[in-house]
Amino acid sequence: MRVLHLTDPHLFADRNGFLRGAVTFDTLQSVLAHYRENSFAARLVALTGDIVQDDSAAAYAHCRDLMSVLGLPVFCVPGNHDVPKLMRHVLPDPPFTYCGAREESNWLFVGIDSRVNGRAGGRIAESELRRMDTTIEASQAEHVMICLHHPPVPMRSQWLDSVGLDNGDEFLARAAASGRVRAAIFGHVHQDYDAVHEGIRLIATPSTCRQFLPRTDEFAVDDRPPAYRCIELRPDGSVTTGLVWVTNA
Ligand SMILES: [Fe+2]
Repeated sequence: MRVLHLTDPHLFADRNGFLRGAVTFDTLQSVLAHYRENSFAARLVALTGDIVQDDSAAAYAHCRDLMSVLGLPVFCVPGNHDVPKLMRHVLPDPPFTYCGAREESNWLFVGIDSRVNGRAGGRIAESELRRMDTTIEASQAEHVMICLHHPPVPMRSQWLDSVGLDNGDEFLARAAASGRVRAAIFGHVHQDYDAVHEGIRLIATPSTCRQFLPRTDEFAVDDRPPAYRCIELRPDGSVTTGLVWVTNA
């Protein structure tokens, strides 16, 4: 089972809108074009939030139009920059799923909302944790991947950890208690991350636009290019990934 992980496109209504020097419509388009030349053949796209930067319905419509070239289901969750009401309005139908659940080849995918109104940092509400628990309990799938926006663990970066996930420990303990969560993928951090905590593989993918310099106490932009990640979920529950930097974006 193969998954394409895209995150943090930060689109604007204006197709020429830019964020820290990157025209985000163009960089997402370049990432998608690069992926389509790749022979990876994902069956699902996970899009882990910060889809828009300017709170506009038009930016979500750009997302819908750009993603349509893939012809794949798009499993999405909101980030701190998203407007759930607009996201649900513009992306309500297949191929998009908003904070849903989906089974593919003995793997269950659960999309979790970690955003808090008016805050850059996140917290997973008890109702959302309960939905994760009950969705896993109700599924016959042997393995589970969780998709969310905020990082469940500190990134060893003072400014970024001040806007992290308040209850990452609780999330990881609940996920580990299920005995079936093998991986959680997230965005928000605009950098590469891949480590195992509580027996769960935690993977961040850099943004489709600009990146943050890892392990810095103060905010700093990294000059690395846009990126996407190919993830292979094996029948035995193991996970392999390949991060792709798109240098011509
Ligand atoms: Fe972001």
